[in-house]
Amino acid sequence: MQLKLRIRRHKEGKSWYDSFSVPYEEGMTFLSALQKIKETQDETLTFRHFCRAGICGTCAIYINGFPKLACKEQVLPYLLDGEEITIEPLKNLRVIKDLVVDHEVIPKKMKELSLWISENKENINIDPEVSKYIESSADCILCGACHSYCPQILEEDYAGPLFFAKLYRFSVDPREGKKQLRKLQALSGRLYHCLSCNKCNNVCPKEVEPATLIRKLMLMDVDSA
Ligand code: FES
Repeated sequence: MQLKLRIRRHKEGKSWYDSFSVPYEEGMTFLSALQKIKETQDETLTFRHFCRAGICGTCAIYINGFPKLACKEQVLPYLLDGEEITIEPLKNLRVIKDLVVDHEVIPKKMKELSLWISENKENINIDPEVSKYIESSADCILCGACHSYCPQILEEDYAGPLFFAKLYRFSVDPREGKKQLRKLQALSGRLYHCLSCNKCNNVCPKEVEPATLIRKLMLMDVDSA
């Protein structure tokens, strides 16, 4: 069986699509297909990966219009459809080359919002129920899938699902010393401009469910008003 890929290329301000055909191998992921193309057909094809285990978040790309982790996504179900599969870089992030986008906006914004536990000297035991919520929101691997698929992200000053999920995590973590600041950060990030479309929930590869956490943040704001 041959896997047919139509890959968006980008170099020096120009974009185009190239088609490739790759022999299917058992267990093949999109990352291994891209590597096969690079090794055997076009060494200039550029993409990112690191852990190959769905942990680092660097390999996120669009596959037929949906953000996916290339190292986790199996090609077989797509292959059985028989159609050419379109591969593109993440949207809403600047493309550097081919499938590589500029992720720098993410750590930059995290730094801007001080997304780490603010000092709290009390020795705190965490309730297992709260711990469950914290863990789920802390599972985010910063792959940018939610950010790239959010239709509201184009609004200037809208923080977006990735950062709201982080702000939620600090809003419920009993170790956090500046909960009021987290609330203000969420409000100045235009929390209530979320469209509640749930698109981020549907594409997050780690099931963080940012849209659900955004709604929880809104409820916390109303409850504390
Ligand atoms: Fe790390 Fe895919 S290579 S998540």
